[in-house]
Amino acid sequence: MSSPELMDKIVSLCKRRGFIFQSSEIYGGLNGAWDYGPLGAELKRNVKNAWWQSTVHFRDDVVGLDCSILMHPKTWEASGHVANFVDQLVECKKCNKRLRPDHLDNGRCPQCKNNTFSDPRAFNLMLKTFLGAMEDSSATVYLRPETAQGIFVNFPNVIDSTHRKLPLGIAQIGKSFRNEITPGNFTFRTREFEQMEIEYFCRPEDAAAKYEEWIQARFQWYKDLGIKPENLKLRPHADDELAHYAAGCTDVEYNFPFGWSELEGIANRGAYDLQQHEKFSGQDLQYKDPVTNEKFFPHVIEPSGGCDRGTLAFLVDAYHEETVNDATRVVMKFHPKLAPIKVAILPLAKKSEGIVTLAKKIKSELQKELVCVYDETAAIGKLYRRQDEIGTVFCVTVDFQSLEDHQVTVRHRDTMVQERIAIDHLREYLKKHLGF
Ligand code: GAP
Repeated sequence: MSSPELMDKIVSLCKRRGFIFQSSEIYGGLNGAWDYGPLGAELKRNVKNAWWQSTVHFRDDVVGLDCSILMHPKTWEASGHVANFVDQLVECKKCNKRLRPDHLDNGRCPQCKNNTFSDPRAFNLMLKTFLGAMEDSSATVYLRPETAQGIFVNFPNVIDSTHRKLPLGIAQIGKSFRNEITPGNFTFRTREFEQMEIEYFCRPEDAAAKYEEWIQARFQWYKDLGIKPENLKLRPHADDELAHYAAGCTDVEYNFPFGWSELEGIANRGAYDLQQHEKFSGQDLQYKDPVTNEKFFPHVIEPSGGCDRGTLAFLVDAYHEETVNDATRVVMKFHPKLAPIKVAILPLAKKSEGIVTLAKKIKSELQKELVCVYDETAAIGKLYRRQDEIGTVFCVTVDFQSLEDHQVTVRHRDTMVQERIAIDHLREYLKKHLGF
């Protein structure tokens, strides 16, 4: 299958089965914005939970934070976003399309083929809005273009309120906004997206080792959640790609159908951000060692990932087509932790009151701990295919014999192997195989 064909199939499955819809579709859509449907919302929530668990709950040296999207405008002067978060754009003199000079088609406008353009002008990618009743520059605020700055400005609050010592990471998941010139590749580059970011504050002399540790930890996270190793690579940035203050940056890249592209960056940012915020706020943002009373600016390692990009990679990697009995079986082989639905309860005969009652009773017990669905709207073969296509890990079929022997058939998604399991042991069996 060609790469564009694969991407088309994934986009179509996402819409058909309720993973991802175009935003405001009934009005013709909004470029660079997408909505997650019932299954996509579960999947994305599972990605975020897996990230939070691995980076906050399973570690002793990271705490969480949840900051507002709107921040004091000085934040973005200090961070450098007002001055530097820009793309150079030229405007086509015929159709007025604005585009990056490197996106011209052999010197011509890709829209109208004209070859005369304005001089390049800086275009800031931050989205602006106004607070309160006034719509002038005194009321201008920005929708944050990254969650990171909320963490930096709260560094003293977190240290003072938790009495934690270095090294300490602060993690946050949240929405960010960028007025991208060329959103595209489905949810890969959008104007509204969610980030999963950590600012890991450490002593300057420990930064190089922590940088290497975080690169490995973040790379491993994607592998542990089932991404095929051959579809992942690390790409260290060349010196001329680095910000002047950065000592290093490495991207985790995924082999998307449209090419190798960034999922996450891990940066060794030095002390730049805290120093900038101290300069612009006039507040003391240095860390004071509680034992030695030594004061210094911690250095920062920043693993910064995109939740939507991660979710897209998990969707792409999960997509499989297999031939079974001369028919194509589409199966989403999500890691059990990420699968939107863990168990489908399927009655073999929807007209049998005994079977339906038992199936619904099993569902109501299981759903206290596992995300389940009940479906009786088709024949069993079709129900299995439907669940395969959304990546449901187990199907549990209740049949006439279940009423006699108190057993059900458990079907495994990936192997299609079926086993008879006693209803009394079902919960433990499923949890064990799901790794819960
Ligand atoms: N604080 C550092 C920072 O924001 P970034 O490389 O600009 O770094 C981090 O963004 C991650 O956020 C990217 O690796 C990507 O996963 C995600 N991201 C950035 N821009 C995005 C966009 N327009 N659409 C979707 N995800 C985006």
